Amino acid sequence: MSKPNKAGPRLRIALSTLEKIEPYKPGVSRIEGVANPMKLSSNENPFGPSPKAIKAVEKSTLKMHRYPEGSSKVLRDALAEKHGIDAERIVCGAGSDNILELLCQAYAGVGDEVLYSEHGFLIYPIAALRVGATPVKAPEKNLTTDVSALLKAVTDKTKIVFIANPNNPTGSYLTRGEVKMLRDKLPPHILLVIDCAYAEYVTEKDYTTGLELVAETENTAVTFTFSKIYGLASLRVGWGYLPTAVVDYVNRIRSPFNVSEQGQVAAVAALKDNEFVKKSREHNTKWRDWLTHELSKLGIKVNPSQGNFILAEFPSDKRRNADSANSFLQSRGIIVRAVKGYGLPDHLRISIGLEEEVRAVQEALEEFMKR
Ligand SMILES: Cc1ncc(COP(=O)(O)O)c(C=O)c1O
Repeated sequence: MSKPNKAGPRLRIALSTLEKIEPYKPGVSRIEGVANPMKLSSNENPFGPSPKAIKAVEKSTLKMHRYPEGSSKVLRDALAEKHGIDAERIVCGAGSDNILELLCQAYAGVGDEVLYSEHGFLIYPIAALRVGATPVKAPEKNLTTDVSALLKAVTDKTKIVFIANPNNPTGSYLTRGEVKMLRDKLPPHILLVIDCAYAEYVTEKDYTTGLELVAETENTAVTFTFSKIYGLASLRVGWGYLPTAVVDYVNRIRSPFNVSEQGQVAAVAALKDNEFVKKSREHNTKWRDWLTHELSKLGIKVNPSQGNFILAEFPSDKRRNADSANSFLQSRGIIVRAVKGYGLPDHLRISIGLEEEVRAVQEALEEFMKR
């Protein structure tokens, strides 16, 4: 990063804080010399967008010259109806990242701490640092958020606790009881943000998104996205269900047209396409379980995942470690996600793709492990 000119504008946040931001690295999408690589690096829906969402966007193209409706009213009403919640407490954003950032902007700043889990989603520390707050990591147990460790890491400077449930990149989740215990034991002035980007893929019965906690408490927020099961990553649509006072502040600071018209109409159509969501979930469950089982047979340890990806741990010897596996997969035209930035140098995160893609991963890794 280049240093600001002494004669130029003064940064409000200390330069030392801004320089700690490691710009978010999205999943790689290209391999030199490979025309159509299998992209399994960003946890996208391998079936693409819902056909109903495509139609809705096509219909809206002639309105591209108009500003979108600024409060995403139709989308909020559709979400409220689907989940049996209050539309007034929903805020839509340009991806759920936008909501996570707005919450940081409203509730944390210089001198505050933002707490998250050791292998938590990397947007949390970035969102904290960009408002001048200090991100603090609590250790995990067995690649899973540890509620006791989070509670132990709380100080009088803590303003926000972020958890992803299930978490990216570990795939692990907290049960309903654990989430409730975290909320009950956190001091009431701390905002608990539960990021449910992968909620629709969860198959475990003791899971909760935490929507009920938003209804019951004044200090819990839940976020969701249309980028994963709904297949709309490029359109950037996410939403948060927030306590009434939090909605008020977030609406004051969000940009007035933060969700495009195309994003809004596509999200409404995708939300109503139950068949597409069901097909996506069933496919994911089947092939997530299959790949977990097959890789385990090869001696690759797979962390049980509730998301649309798995986290695979490779042996430490140079010939078969995660770096070599990543290069080997790329040589077969397969792009997965290295997760060193998450403190997981021995692991690779692999999104669940189409059947032929999942099978290609298994075949390549079988060859790799047998070399
Ligand atoms: C845990 C988690 N939260 C939030 C997001 C952000 O998603 P978006 O901004 O596309 O809604 C992601 C994306 O990968 C994620 O993995």
